[in-house]
Amino acid sequence: MTNTTPVPPAPAGPGHPRLLAWIAEVAEMTMPKDIVWVDGSDAQRQAITEQLVDAGTLIRLNPELRPNSFLARSDPSDVARVESRTFIASQNQADAGPTNNWREPTELRAELKEVFAGSMKGRTMYVIPFSMGPLGGPISQLGIELTDSPYVVLSMLVMTRAGSEALELLGDDGFFVPALHTLGAPLGDHEADVPWPCNDTKYIVHFPETREIWSYGSGYGGNALLGKKCFALRIASVMARDEGWLAEHMLILRLTSPTGSVHHLTAAFPSACGKTNLAMLRPTIPGWKVETIGDDIAWLRAGADGRLHAINPEAGFFGVAPGTGMATNPTAIESLTHDVVFTNVALTDDGDVWWEGLTDDAPDHLIDWLGNDWTPDCGRVAAHPNSRFTVRADQCPIISPDWEKPEGVPIDAMLFGGRRASNVPLVMAARDWAHGVFVGATVASEQTAAAEGAVGSLRRDPFAMLPFCGYDMADYWGHWLDVGAELAAKGVEAPAIFSVNWFRKSADGKFLWPGFGDNSRVVAWALDHLDGKAPGVANALGVVPAPGELNLDGLDLSETALEELFRVDPDAWLAEADLTEEYFGQFGDKVRPELYDQLATLRANLQAAKD
Ligand code: OXD
Ligand code: MN
Repeated sequence: MTNTTPVPPAPAGPGHPRLLAWIAEVAEMTMPKDIVWVDGSDAQRQAITEQLVDAGTLIRLNPELRPNSFLARSDPSDVARVESRTFIASQNQADAGPTNNWREPTELRAELKEVFAGSMKGRTMYVIPFSMGPLGGPISQLGIELTDSPYVVLSMLVMTRAGSEALELLGDDGFFVPALHTLGAPLGDHEADVPWPCNDTKYIVHFPETREIWSYGSGYGGNALLGKKCFALRIASVMARDEGWLAEHMLILRLTSPTGSVHHLTAAFPSACGKTNLAMLRPTIPGWKVETIGDDIAWLRAGADGRLHAINPEAGFFGVAPGTGMATNPTAIESLTHDVVFTNVALTDDGDVWWEGLTDDAPDHLIDWLGNDWTPDCGRVAAHPNSRFTVRADQCPIISPDWEKPEGVPIDAMLFGGRRASNVPLVMAARDWAHGVFVGATVASEQTAAAEGAVGSLRRDPFAMLPFCGYDMADYWGHWLDVGAELAAKGVEAPAIFSVNWFRKSADGKFLWPGFGDNSRVVAWALDHLDGKAPGVANALGVVPAPGELNLDGLDLSETALEELFRVDPDAWLAEADLTEEYFGQFGDKVRPELYDQLATLRANLQAAKD
């Protein structure tokens, strides 16, 4: 049986034959009951919201407490990115590399066609034209998501610049990334729908050569909002490799020092390691001002001055709720006062939301993320550990006036970090770009709840890109080395690279560093180092603050804790160097000699420190 669902006329532009043909082809395969163009209008957004409230997908929160805001509860099986079902279907397996799940593209495409057949029956297929990055900007890119999930439509309207303006920019033959998404939950003629349709079988597939995304079975976050991880990282990283730019899992910040000097920095941390908190940093040291530009993804390209400039390709924040509170991230809390979609947090008796860490004490009674009664003594969490808020970036009170600058902001420094209870110092400057690439390549972190898997176990997460790099990780490190070499060849200063670790613990398991707003002290040191005001001292790993350089005024930090934060245990590091060699080994001869040179230098420095 073929589907004859007509593709309605596009709301803007003369019509893009390749786009229209693709929509018709997908409609024929997935058999939606109708097709709707997403135009980005308030009227359409409101109609879709009402429809989701009627369907029970969204619960309207108390408008007096949280105007225009909603709570969604996902299916309990659909709560995080599914890395085990995320595939890179490059022509050659070697191009996907050992850290990605590879599938042969022709075979997988045939399998997907079967899986997608009839998958949208009984549902509306929405066509979402969207821009990653400011509309028409020189670093921005366009995409089209086809989805049968109205929740995804609402989320894409927050997270990207979606609607007719993006479609107009496509003209009649512009490049776009086709991103196809279905919940995989066709509806029979008289079948009642469920609030969160999805399918136990999931596929999150990327065809890097044709820049295509096919996502099946999940309605949640990065699995379904295809502009984010699928496009802006996995597909964009491949585009960036081919075109000489960078697509990174990085926040972007502007800092103004007490003397008025302005710097921009990016920072890469694995998922759920505090990127949103750092992006909205409230400094505890006087005189410093922070402005947010992005909290998750940065696209970097050489600007007119040759320096690397970054844009935030997203238009909203899809932040982890638990752990976000007035004490940890007051700026986020102030961003969430209205027009928010919360997913998998708890509902209070007065129709507001709550999650662990929002307040010190939990309310006496809640409805938990599963829809069950919850009391503080029940022994369960009220909000799912990967519950999220979805909110427009311009609701952030410290959003930079330049956050939508099409050409981006020039980047002075980059931070790499992870969750490390031991070994990794609070802060360390890399000696040069190649050393910085080595530092980024060897990041390891304790697993969090942002993806499936055992929370707490240590995994390598180079550049915080392990789940997001669309090609071989060692080739990616090579690309970073090439970008540095190109900057050097042009005589342009590359951003300085730093390693940071807010999570080091004492022998009795307590965090040594207060973190949050006090991380401003570390960032201030990094920028002072950059400006030559804090030269630091070299140790076996890199350059760390010299005594007195790190501003600790007003901080209750013992001398022992400070020492421990920077202690280098040569034996533990030599053991880590062996693990690094083993880790590099899995990439065979793709690991560039420059990185092995860095490993040799590290070992020599550690040996010298021992002798
Ligand atoms: C995210 C993630 O959602 O990194 O940002 O998982
Ligand atoms: Mn992320």
